[in-house]
Amino acid sequence: MIKPSVNWRMVLVLWGIIREMKIQVITLFPDMLTGVFGSSMLWKAQDKELAKLETVDLRQFGLGPRKTVDDTPYGGGDGMLLKPEPLFAAVAYCKQSAPNAKVLLMTPRGYDYSQKDAQRLASANNDLIIICGRYEGYDERITSIVDEQICIGHYVLTGGEIAAMAVVDSIVRLIPGVLGGEKSAEIESFSDGDNREFPQYTRPEEFRGMRVPEVLLSGHHAEIDKWRTEQANKQ
Ligand code: ADE
Repeated sequence: MIKPSVNWRMVLVLWGIIREMKIQVITLFPDMLTGVFGSSMLWKAQDKELAKLETVDLRQFGLGPRKTVDDTPYGGGDGMLLKPEPLFAAVAYCKQSAPNAKVLLMTPRGYDYSQKDAQRLASANNDLIIICGRYEGYDERITSIVDEQICIGHYVLTGGEIAAMAVVDSIVRLIPGVLGGEKSAEIESFSDGDNREFPQYTRPEEFRGMRVPEVLLSGHHAEIDKWRTEQANKQ
């Protein structure tokens, strides 16, 4: 008997129910991101064709034979700033394949990024272009082509790459279908801002004199839920 070959994914894509979110990260250090993008959940999301993650090497858009990407600041001061021309060219390149993409700049001067922002960006299902800031800063005119400036914490990283990895991870795991249905529903219930998780245990019941709390072994689900809520609020 001939089996009907229906590609359900294709059907859902055609109906506009699912689409692959393309995220392009503009960086001078693409190697920093390659391992993270090719592992674990980020790899799975790409394997399921729910996300497409790419790095774009800013150096390719550098000026002159030395592919210069930075220069000294007007008015004096230490360090070098990322020049506007290579970044404008890199964003234009990314927009060729993702014309409606939102442009995010990773910078300690951005707004404080939170789970709510991850959800907003995941559910908008817009393609994203992420610019990693570098060195002592960037020419301010870059911000004219940026939609959002994001800071992942009140500390200064050497560049935006680590911030970009954190932001990509936090968004991609929320794309429907990336995690198992059960887990994503659980995340939804934990997504009202500053919610913390409760402590968890696995086998063995006793390890180096430390026992798993009795309530977790009781099989009493109402009690377990109550304990977990108490613990989550305690931390
Ligand atoms: N680049 C350097 N530090 C950063 C931070 N805390 N958040 C985002 N981008 C950054």
